[in-house]
Order: sequence, then structure tokens, then C-alpha cells
Amino acid sequence: MSIERAHRLLSEASSVLVVTGAGISAESNIPTFRGEGGLWEGFRAEELATPEAFERDPELVWRWYRWRRTICNEAEPNPGHHALVRLEERSPEFLLVTQNVDGLHPRSGSRKLVEIHGCIDQARCTRSGRVFPIDEGRWEGGVLVDPESDSLARPHILWFGESYWEGTLDAGLRLAQRGVELCLVVGTSGMVWPPAALALHAKERGAVLVEVNPNRGQLTQHADIWLKGPSGELLPQLVG
Ligand code: OAD
Repeated sequence: MSIERAHRLLSEASSVLVVTGAGISAESNIPTFRGEGGLWEGFRAEELATPEAFERDPELVWRWYRWRRTICNEAEPNPGHHALVRLEERSPEFLLVTQNVDGLHPRSGSRKLVEIHGCIDQARCTRSGRVFPIDEGRWEGGVLVDPESDSLARPHILWFGESYWEGTLDAGLRLAQRGVELCLVVGTSGMVWPPAALALHAKERGAVLVEVNPNRGQLTQHADIWLKGPSGELLPQLVG
């Protein structure tokens, strides 16, 4: 069985790179981007998560993020998130790169973690660039204001069409470059290139690529082992 093989490889691996996407939080009832439930008031994420949308109507974009933030903050990490914490604790070398902004990885206890697309609980001043917790901001007319600069703040989230913040991908790239024994990709469609490239890079440098996903995606054809199913069920079996 492939899960037994993957379990053995994972328990023997001294270095592990994990890349997660929205699917790992699906069993925490957070809708994925491209699946059902990804719409809000008839808008697709691609229509709201852009600098242009914010410029046009910051109040609308903030309203969407406040709705999403409530969903994320009310959600609880699921057994998939917890399994990755156990994996981190026992792996001599480990890094978790997540595309998710829902905060469930840090809340479940992941520490060797990079949230490459930002975090739903943080805002950034459009004038100074200062990043601060949303709860420290001031709401005025449906938008958040940075109390230090009295200027409009935006969600500290990487939007469509924006470049990755400097340094965000470095730790993952360094590890992939140096070579990891196993790269585990969980719950991502692989549609966004930099995180998908991390996994492919790790594979090129010799890593065994294991994917956990109920559906085929862009990375599946490159996976050495595809564990077809929901991560909340499969990750606990895989990690043990
Ligand atoms: P997608 O919505 O593109 O893909 C979600 C993936 O999760 C799909 O491949 C599903 O098959 C899979 N999935 C669904 N249920 C699952 C389950 N229970 N267990 C495991 N997998 C499951 O989300 P991402 O790949 O994360 O970026 O999207 C990547 C990025 O696209 C997002 O971070 C966001 C978006 O543009 C930014 O906002 C910058």
C-alpha cells in the first residue's frame, strides 16, 4: 500500500519540507479558493484580492476580509494540522511553507513555519508599510486605519498580481536547494507557481515527493506517491 510506503519513508526521513494549501483547512470548514463555497456575494476571490479592487472600493474588500476573518477565527485546527506539528517535533530538519492565511497552522502549534501569503489577523499601513495586528487598528467608515499614521491600512495578504515580499520564499528555497529527503505537499491545486516550484525544486534535488489530496492537481503528475483522500484522515495515518 502506498500509505505504508509513504509512512515508512517519512519516519526514516531526517529532513522534510511540507507545502500546504487551502485543502488542509477544508475539514475545518474553511472553503478552498477554487472549490465550492469560494464565492462571496457573487464575487470570486480573484475579483477582490487585488490591489485594483482595494483602490476602487476599500470598504468592500475590508468587508470581505472581515467575513473571512470571522470564519477563520471561529475554525479549529483539524487532525491534519495536528499531525504536522507531531512531524515537526520529531524531524531533525523541518520546514512548513503554507499558502494559507487562516492562522490554523500557528494555532495548532506549528513553529518552523512560513506563511508566504500573509495572515488574516494582520494589517499593513498603506503609507508607512508598518505591519500590525488588525485588533490594534481603528475602524472608520468600514475601513481600517493605522492609529500610528492615521492612514488607510490594508490586509497584510499577498494579492493577485503582487510580488512575494522580500525574503518570504528564501527559507523554503534554501532547504529545497540543499536537498531534503522528503517533500510533502498537502491540499493545494498547485496553481500558484512559487509554492509549486518549491516542491518541484525539492524533487529535482532528490526529494521523494508525496502528495495528499482527494483530487488530481498540477503537482500530481510529479508525485512519487499520491495519497488520494482528505488530509484530516490521511495525515494522522501517514505521520502516526
Ligand atoms: P485551491 O483552492 O486552489 O486548491 C485547494 C486544493 O485542496 C484542491 O487541490 C483540492 O482538491 C484540495 N482539497 C480539497 N479538500 C481537501 C481535503 N479535505 N484534504 C486535502 N486536500 C483537499 O487552494 P490553494 O492551492 O491553496 O493565493 O491555492 C493557492 C493560492 O491561490 C492561495 O493561497 C491563494 C490563491 O490565489 C493568494 O491569495 C496569493
